[in-house]
Amino acid sequence: MTKILEKVDLSENVVKMVLDAPAIARKRRAGQFVVLKIDEKGERIPLTTVDADPEKGTLTIIFQVVGKTTAKLAAMKAGDELMDLQGPLGRPTHIEGVKNAVCVGGGVGVGVVYPIAAALKKQGAKVTSIIGARCKDLLILEDETRSISDNLIVTTDDGSYGVHGFVSDALKNVIESGEKIDEVFAIGPVPMMKAVAAVTKNYGIKTTVSLNSIMVDATGMCGACRVAVGGETKFACVDGPEFDGHAVDFDLLASRLRMYMTQEKESMDKYRC
Ligand code: FES
Repeated sequence: MTKILEKVDLSENVVKMVLDAPAIARKRRAGQFVVLKIDEKGERIPLTTVDADPEKGTLTIIFQVVGKTTAKLAAMKAGDELMDLQGPLGRPTHIEGVKNAVCVGGGVGVGVVYPIAAALKKQGAKVTSIIGARCKDLLILEDETRSISDNLIVTTDDGSYGVHGFVSDALKNVIESGEKIDEVFAIGPVPMMKAVAAVTKNYGIKTTVSLNSIMVDATGMCGACRVAVGGETKFACVDGPEFDGHAVDFDLLASRLRMYMTQEKESMDKYRC
């Protein structure tokens, strides 16, 4: 059993939890995820680790309520226990040798790119972070991201806070300002990652995207996280979750993400009734 030590609502539908998980906290590295199961009958869900404190033995996760299981998880509180927590899983982010990076996060993806930005900063890289949301109320981790960035740009789609527009537009401005960039890390909704990859491809800047959001059970067997990368079939939970953004077939990925929408809605409707 894993105890929930802290629960904070970061925005509408986005929750941060601190878990008592000393073994995972000792090993976890940026980019890796855990798989948790709430109870005996629950499904396994993969969630990215946002932070860990090896001394305190705590692990921080951030998740968005997108279906029945995440809604049940969001309804839990500090002191409650999860039946199972496995990890760390997935390949850690390759940050070795990166000296000047731009970390781009959209929506709940800010919670995934934040630990990568923090790890880059820790190894001495110059970090420019660009974080965005649909509106001010949905923006998460602004202060935390500012604290580990040399430069922070905030965007909102509706202009209610920061720069009016998309993170991909802000990235284009950073690139055109002449900033030397070794690599861009982009994590967020598929259309956002597609737009970022399209911008950086024009300038020949290496770009890494994380496809953790398409994983279902992270077993390597359900096939739900299948993705075409450079013409080859890959599985996000086994081969990723991070891939070369210029090689991912985002259109195929977007169509696969829509495949289970009906079942997810039915499950959520039943849970709510
Ligand atoms: Fe099922 Fe990867 S999430 S195979």
